[in-house]
Amino acid sequence: MKKILVTGGAGYIGSHTVVELVEAGYEPIIVDNFSNSEESALEGIAAIVGRNVTCHRVDCTDSKALREVFEKEQDIVGVIHFAANKAVGESVENPLKYYHNNVGSLVALLQVMEEFKVNKLVFSSSCTVYGVPESLPVTEETPVQKANSPYGNTKKICEEILTDVAASGSTLKSIALRYFNPIGAHPSAKIGELPLGVPSNLVPFITQTAIGMREQLTIFGNDYDTPDGTNIRDYVHVVDLAKAHVVAVERLLEEKGESLEFFNIGTGNGTTVLEAVKAFESATGVKLNYKIGPRRAGDVPKIYADVAKATEALGFKTTSTLEEAMKSAWDWQVSLKESTAKV
Ligand code: NAD
Ligand code: WQD
Repeated sequence: MKKILVTGGAGYIGSHTVVELVEAGYEPIIVDNFSNSEESALEGIAAIVGRNVTCHRVDCTDSKALREVFEKEQDIVGVIHFAANKAVGESVENPLKYYHNNVGSLVALLQVMEEFKVNKLVFSSSCTVYGVPESLPVTEETPVQKANSPYGNTKKICEEILTDVAASGSTLKSIALRYFNPIGAHPSAKIGELPLGVPSNLVPFITQTAIGMREQLTIFGNDYDTPDGTNIRDYVHVVDLAKAHVVAVERLLEEKGESLEFFNIGTGNGTTVLEAVKAFESATGVKLNYKIGPRRAGDVPKIYADVAKATEALGFKTTSTLEEAMKSAWDWQVSLKESTAKV
């Protein structure tokens, strides 16, 4: 079985991707420092795929420790690099943590990959690189803009690093997937998102409110230039997103495409915050306590993806509806409560 190193493989998107890799016949090897995940994610993965997946507790900024993993595992054929910090607000307060971890881990990883002649990389990028887009939907040709947070800037810098490496004549072949808004959880409810503290993302805030952990959801503004006045996003089911990584790995291993390619990964549909709330309510039958509040500073009014390039080159297509994604997020939230109740 082909070994794929998955940095950040115990995290939200990483754990779902590990499951899809196993199901597609690959041997994922997880590297994670558990700075934003729990070992229980490994148990969840094992329960879904029916066996343990190898995991190295390693910090990706530590080249020496990374080198030991490549030495031990020997025949790694490709890498998916999820490991990063992702809290936009925290990155404004502590930018050096973000530059060190997000940029430092990519540089260390690329150096070690080069030493071990591993030259296939899938990188986690983000629609945040498009800033406030001038036209919609955004294609991969839509200009990348000045980042509006240090977190966003790390994604932009990492894309530039990959661009410079590709231009240097390196043998590296990489694909940067620009995720739109990943939501939901595995249908088994054995893995999902584990937000630390008060969630800043919409869907974990919705599910925590619905289960009684939060009193009320505040919708950040209803005076935007959108059909109901609330922000528009492209919410993509995390399992569909995970599958995009498997097809990206396949493309790299088949030596198809340019030395560096960018793909939008979303659904292609724009959804307002109010529509997202309605989808949650209709999928779960749970009524949500919410109010309209002021705008949140820095919010992009509307963004959604054109996914034609990913559809054509990767054969990527989403299979889950927004309601299914909401239902899976809810089932995961309920299972978390049940597992805490058992402790
Ligand atoms: P997550 O925090 O759940 O997962 C990241 C994992 O990486 C965690 O398990 C964490 O412990 C690990 N990690 C962090 N720094 C590490 C390091 N130095 N060494 C080893 N492990 C480390 O986040 P996620 O939502 O799964 O995001 C995965 C990737 O996708 C990130 O690069 C993120 O920036 C990107 N992304 C996420 C979203 C989103 O909304 N979730 C959107 C666009 C892009
Ligand atoms: C979605 C919508 C909010 C919470 C963030 C990062 C971005 C990317 C994806 C990684 C917005 C509204 C939210 C709440 C609300 N991550 N909302 N009340 O802002 O699209 O992007 O995650 O790369 O970099 O910035 O996602 O889930 O925070 O918000 O009304 O309590 O929900 O205003 O319109 P966002 P989000």
